[in-house]
Amino acid sequence: MNCIGIIGAMEEEISRLKEKMKDVVITKKASMDFYEGTLEGKKAVVVRSGIGKVNAGMCTQILADIFHVDAVINTGIAGSLNNEVNIGDIVLSTDVLHHDMDATGFGYRKGQIPRMDAFSFEADEKLRKLAWKVCKEVNPEIDVHEGRIASGDQFISDNAVKDAIISEFGGFAVEMEGAAIGQAAYLNEIPFLIIRAISDKADGSATVDYPTFEKAAIEHSVNLTLGMIREL
Ligand code: ADE
Repeated sequence: MNCIGIIGAMEEEISRLKEKMKDVVITKKASMDFYEGTLEGKKAVVVRSGIGKVNAGMCTQILADIFHVDAVINTGIAGSLNNEVNIGDIVLSTDVLHHDMDATGFGYRKGQIPRMDAFSFEADEKLRKLAWKVCKEVNPEIDVHEGRIASGDQFISDNAVKDAIISEFGGFAVEMEGAAIGQAAYLNEIPFLIIRAISDKADGSATVDYPTFEKAAIEHSVNLTLGMIREL
C-alpha cells in the first residue's frame, strides 16, 4: 500500500490519529485540512471532511486527485439499525447506499441513483477481513459486525424513520457520509472500508444516547483504524 486516506467527519473522530502522525505537511483544499505524513510508519493522509454526504464525497475525490491514495478508510460513529448491534459495537461495511435517494416517481427502487449501474457500493473485502481480525485483537471487549451501512443527510432519531429504512434496505448502521465515500471511491476505482462504532440506536433515545456514548464509540473506531494501519 503506497498511501492510505483516512476520513473522519468530525474533529473528535480523527484528533488522536493526527496527534500520532509524524513528518506532517498540511494542505488546505475546499476548506479541508489534509494531514499528509506517516502513521504507524505508513504513508497516510488524515482529514476531517465535515458532516454530510457532499463534504464526504468531495473529500474522497480530493484524496484521489491530489494525494493518489490507494485505499480510503472512514472512521466514525453511527446509529444501530439492528437489535443485535449494541451501543459501543463496531460495524464494518459490506456495502453502502443512500437511504435518502428517491427517484421512485420514475420507477426506480428507493435508494437507486438513476442511470447508475450500482445500487449499493461494495466495500473492499480484504480491508474488511483485516479489520475484523484486528478488531478482535484491539477491541476484545466489544462485538464486531459486518453488514450494510445506510447513509443520508439526516440524523435518525425517530422510530418510524428508522423502521422505514430497515424495511426498505435492511442494514446494520445508519450514518451521514459512508455512501458518499463509497460512491466516490467506486467511481475512482479505489478500495474503501467504512468503520463505524455505534453511539445510539437511531430511535427516540438517540439524541440523549449520542452525547453519552460518543466518546467511547470514537475510541473503539480509532483503535481499530490504528491497528489496521499497523498491519497494512
Ligand atoms: N451518527 C451517529 N448516530 C447517528 C444517527 N442516529 N443518525 C445518523 N447519523 C448518526
